Amino acid sequence: MPALKIAIDGPAASGKSTVARLVAERLGGFTVNTGDLYRAVSWAALERGLDPVRDAAGVVAMLAELDLAYRIAEPGRLRLHLNGRPVPQEAIRAAAVAAVVSHVARLPEVREWLRQRQRDCCALGTVVMEGRDIGTVILPDAPFKFFITASPMERARRRLAQPGEVAAGATVQSVAAEIAERDRIDSSRPVAPLRPADDAITINTDGLTPDEVADRVVGVIRGGPRP
Ligand code: DC
Repeated sequence: MPALKIAIDGPAASGKSTVARLVAERLGGFTVNTGDLYRAVSWAALERGLDPVRDAAGVVAMLAELDLAYRIAEPGRLRLHLNGRPVPQEAIRAAAVAAVVSHVARLPEVREWLRQRQRDCCALGTVVMEGRDIGTVILPDAPFKFFITASPMERARRRLAQPGEVAAGATVQSVAAEIAERDRIDSSRPVAPLRPADDAITINTDGLTPDEVADRVVGVIRGGPRP
């Protein structure tokens, strides 16, 4: 099969990362989780003692010091590197990063800086790229676009089930509120807001297993590009 571009967008904790991984495995492609790029920039800012919520200029100035790139870690897997070192997943999934990443992701300079880095990944082979603006901005020419959603309570339950992603003492209600706030910021920002591309297929994953969602996605892809 020739190299394919598959765009998977959706809100936080909608299950899109799991689905993207399953789809990539079935198609023999790479997954690119673009949220990790925004998280890595946020983590780098916190490491430098910056406050990304108040100091947008500091974050933008810092970009010149960053070399952020995906490398093939092992056959079939990409690993994100920052200034030559692998980016630790536990660091970028920490609650401190989750608390500021929406603020970093709404900076146009950061989005612009990351745009080509995301597009460059397609040179590596079949890519299942997941994020918020993949179908609309990053890969508008992708022949397959999906928008994966789930209800806020379902998403809060999923997030709570992922160790290390929520602050100590978090409840379904507090996590649902945090997710809703992140959605609000992501959907209302002027630059690349979270929204389905006009030609995306929306899948609500409530009550579906990740495998069932992946079946639907792969079924569409195997059926060929839509007219
Ligand atoms: O998917 P995630 O929770 O790891 O995303 C982290 C943040 O980055 C979230 O606030 C949305 C933002 N993001 C974005 O604006 N555009 C993307 N393509 C991916 C993530």
